Amino acid sequence: MQEIRKATVIGAGVMGAGIAAQFANAGVPVLLLDIVPPAAADRNALAVGAIARMLKTEPAPFMSAAAAKLVTPGNLEDHLAQVADSDWIVEAVVERLEVKQALYAKLDAVRRPGTAVSSNTSTIPLHLLTQGLSAAFARDFLITHFFNPPRYMRLLEVVTGTATDARLADRVAEFADRVLGKSVVRCKDSPGFIANRLGVYWLQIGVVEALDLGLTVEEADAVVGRPMGIPKTGVFGLIDLVGLDLMPHINASLEKALPAGDAFHAANRDLPLVRQMIAQGNTGRKGKGGFYRLNRSGGGKVKEAIDLVSGEYRAEQRPELPELAGAAKNLRALLESDSPSGRYAWRVLGQTLSYAASLVPEAADDVQAIDAAMRLGYNWQWGPFELIDKLGAAWLAQRLEKHAMGVPPLLRAAAGRSFYRVESGRRQFLGTDGAYHDLRRAPGVLLLEDIKLAAKPLLKNGSAAVWDIGDGVLCFEFTSKSNSLDEAIIALLGETIALVQKHHKALVIYNEGRNFSVGANLGLALFAANIAAWSQIEQLIAGGQQTYKALKYAPFPVVGAPSGMALGGGCEILLHSDAVQAHAESYIGLVECGVGVIPGWGGCKEMLGRWAASGLLPRGPMPVPSKVFETVSTATVSKSAAEARNLLFLRPGDGITMNRDRLLADAKARALELAVNYQPPKPWELKLPGPAGKLAFMMAAEDFHRRGIATDHDLVVAAELAGVLTGADTDPVDPPLGEDQVVALERAAFMRLMKTPGTLARIEHLLVTGKPLRN
Ligand code: NAI
Repeated sequence: MQEIRKATVIGAGVMGAGIAAQFANAGVPVLLLDIVPPAAADRNALAVGAIARMLKTEPAPFMSAAAAKLVTPGNLEDHLAQVADSDWIVEAVVERLEVKQALYAKLDAVRRPGTAVSSNTSTIPLHLLTQGLSAAFARDFLITHFFNPPRYMRLLEVVTGTATDARLADRVAEFADRVLGKSVVRCKDSPGFIANRLGVYWLQIGVVEALDLGLTVEEADAVVGRPMGIPKTGVFGLIDLVGLDLMPHINASLEKALPAGDAFHAANRDLPLVRQMIAQGNTGRKGKGGFYRLNRSGGGKVKEAIDLVSGEYRAEQRPELPELAGAAKNLRALLESDSPSGRYAWRVLGQTLSYAASLVPEAADDVQAIDAAMRLGYNWQWGPFELIDKLGAAWLAQRLEKHAMGVPPLLRAAAGRSFYRVESGRRQFLGTDGAYHDLRRAPGVLLLEDIKLAAKPLLKNGSAAVWDIGDGVLCFEFTSKSNSLDEAIIALLGETIALVQKHHKALVIYNEGRNFSVGANLGLALFAANIAAWSQIEQLIAGGQQTYKALKYAPFPVVGAPSGMALGGGCEILLHSDAVQAHAESYIGLVECGVGVIPGWGGCKEMLGRWAASGLLPRGPMPVPSKVFETVSTATVSKSAAEARNLLFLRPGDGITMNRDRLLADAKARALELAVNYQPPKPWELKLPGPAGKLAFMMAAEDFHRRGIATDHDLVVAAELAGVLTGADTDPVDPPLGEDQVVALERAAFMRLMKTPGTLARIEHLLVTGKPLRN
């Protein structure tokens, strides 16, 4: 099998369209085919419609508008022969064996031998799919099970059959990992594979036990949610998201496929309430509502939930469950508590963890595959075996025994030992052979999480740490809450610059938090402002400006490596890096205006410099500040790394890594590349338009204000931003402004805004409610 340069996806429904978009996001041209709808004017209508719909969907399946152009719509009657150009064909048509098999027979006649064909089936075993097809087809066939939505869900379950060419499967898996950015988990050809097999069981148990124990949906989700490291949608909220109508289908298919003794059968009972809800169109978020709904009747917006006994909606109730306080830290105490929520927690988790243990080796070779599948496919913070380790394997076994629930052989074999341990700086898992084995990472994956097991930080304080990641490269890690930036980070960054300069080659700024950084710590800023500690605030601004400047002009290369949000000061640190290696899911922006200030750590300055150097704008003093004003005054945040490129938060030479787990390795490689004959950048000077330019910006801002788009305080902030970007009272005949002069303007404008009541109200409101104030 050759490199995958071109792909075909067949079936332009929910999954097929999303999978095609992810190929396009990765820069791979893809043909998207579906049937010709009866009496259609446009024979490609289904694929064309799917692409158009995806361009309007939120969260967006496409990472950029340009990506959408890589998807070519077509139909199965006119364009099937074109699949011969594809190196991988993904089938994502309706879940019906005879439809899939008929399609495979047609594909086998036109595809190039050696072209991989995979099915996205969620329930049909591989050995049935290939029945009656040629040996050559079976050799090139596998299951690649994506999760919805394919762009955002990292899990890809891969199943191979006895006839599948192992090398072909490896290449597909490797491509899915490196290029599509998915985390591949190998599964056995057993019903529901791993994540849905366990996930559907857990959901079913969650519903049944809540009914039996008389919990409300709010109580159930509060228990089987955060305390267990499970998203706060819990059980009922998740079913709403997936769609209630899918439940009976999935359950029926598992019921049919699973062997008689499987624990699923006992859990899978008829639920009249769910049947009634589906019949009434209450199928979840896509329907009229689900277990929860937003009642808009009467013009209002009332959050409601269903009463599990009466089946009627009522106002949502905040659960009063004091026993949940501290439960995440002491899960065992919750499970032992003799309260309804404690009993529910035990019934759900006890059975789910026991079921998980029964799936090795039937559905997966080892515990780490199951944990990875649940973390990546269901967004659990800890997989089931990690949860067992928290509880204690011996404790769980004893308790299952005491409640006559049966102890699965794997749990018995563990004999009280933990499923994971750290030995000589390496994480290991307990295998089915009873011995510990090193956790395998795919070649080329480098994680701080692993480095930390074997080393101590070179530098560290309460908000950041510095790690040696080998080959002369150090990694600066934010460790503060939400990775917000404060004095301690700035101070440690200063020390780090000195350290790298003395003994090392390059610096990478990276962390493994959900967000790279949410920006400056606003709580501290507000506190300082409330006690009028103005000089302290000014010092923090000046200190940040100097340190970021030192980073930019340091005699070694700096590579910023964000994933998730990189906002405000978190964006500014990237702007001062020599290069950025961004995870594809990076949301970058200068959002300061939203809280009533302006970028004060060199963000305005760097954006001016970038647009001036880009050659993308017409000449003259206005276009550059005008472009920056447009992005910064509206607090624009990119919805992907690709979009960040268009906004110039990333430069054309900056790299994008599709797989989160490969980000650090890619950033390190980039840093080492830059370290060869490294020269720091040259400072620039810029001719700015002065007061006339500011006047033009303010006319536009006032127009927005008149039209009700900009608020009163928006105008105050816009005036300060316009002042900085146009060089304040600089005169067109003055010499151009240097970087230091622009940051001095930033600092002064920032301080003036911090002293306005409108800005303080914005900061306070955001801190209290988590939402921006439009004053
Ligand atoms: P869908 O109903 O949204 O799309 C199915 C597509 O198949 C439609 O565009 C339809 O026009 C097309 N189709 C119908 N009959 C056909 C035929 N005779 N030949 C070719 N195409 C035909 O379904 P969805 O949800 O996208 O599912 C597709 C596959 O992905 C199924 O195998 C499903 O089990 C699997 N899957 C679904 C997930 C989900 O969350 N919806 C998650 C993972 C896998």
